[in-house]
Amino acid sequence: MRVIALIPAAGQGIRLEGSQPKQFLLLGDKPLIAHTLTKFQLCPRIHEIVLVVPRDMEGYCQKEIVETHGFSKIKRIVPGGNRRQDSVRNALEAISSTCDLIVIHDGVRPFVSGETIEQSIELAEKCGAVIAAVPARDSVKRVTPEELIIEASLDRGKIWLAQTPQAFSFPIIKDAYQRAAEDGFTGTDDAALVERLGIEVKIVPGTTKNIKITTPDDLALAEFILRTEK
Ligand code: C5P
Repeated sequence: MRVIALIPAAGQGIRLEGSQPKQFLLLGDKPLIAHTLTKFQLCPRIHEIVLVVPRDMEGYCQKEIVETHGFSKIKRIVPGGNRRQDSVRNALEAISSTCDLIVIHDGVRPFVSGETIEQSIELAEKCGAVIAAVPARDSVKRVTPEELIIEASLDRGKIWLAQTPQAFSFPIIKDAYQRAAEDGFTGTDDAALVERLGIEVKIVPGTTKNIKITTPDDLALAEFILRTEK
């Protein structure tokens, strides 16, 4: 079973201050994206990594990320698009059918565990579509968008917060992206594109440490987690 990791890292980082997109900011002694890529480089189940980067940064990433840190599994760097969904689609189009399973993981989630990656792959081999997620710990309310008035308290026992990795058989995810493009559908994660085709998506329990680094506060938290990981 040939497994390819697809790492979207083409966001422009407009939510963090500084000249560089957040995925290239230093976390400890190396760029944030290099921490994420190391997890996939070291995972024995991953044969190849396809990295998606901001358009015009392919050369920089080849030199400063791939060569500097010795990511031998990265054979292709693909330019991203406007939305994350466009970036993933560009990468899927660059991948040939010699792939059986795709594991999609946000470049800005450096604390994913090797165990979560492997469990996602194992379950996706059996059932075709899997995401890592954690159970909601806070109470969850549905509210009116303008006045922010609570409409309903949702049953927390049924609410899980989606993370990445999200692993799919190659034909399933390829078809889901094709159909979303045809229908003009935008989802907030990859699974949403698969769910709408009526395909069952299973959950692998993830870890709360697998945070998505979005704001300067997240970066400070990431520095803390990194120190505790060592
Ligand atoms: O936008 P968000 O923070 O959810 O991004 C999640 C991941 O998707 C990040 O690693 C980001 O770099 C990537 N992304 C992308 N192309 C975009 C927007 C986001 O590859 N146009």
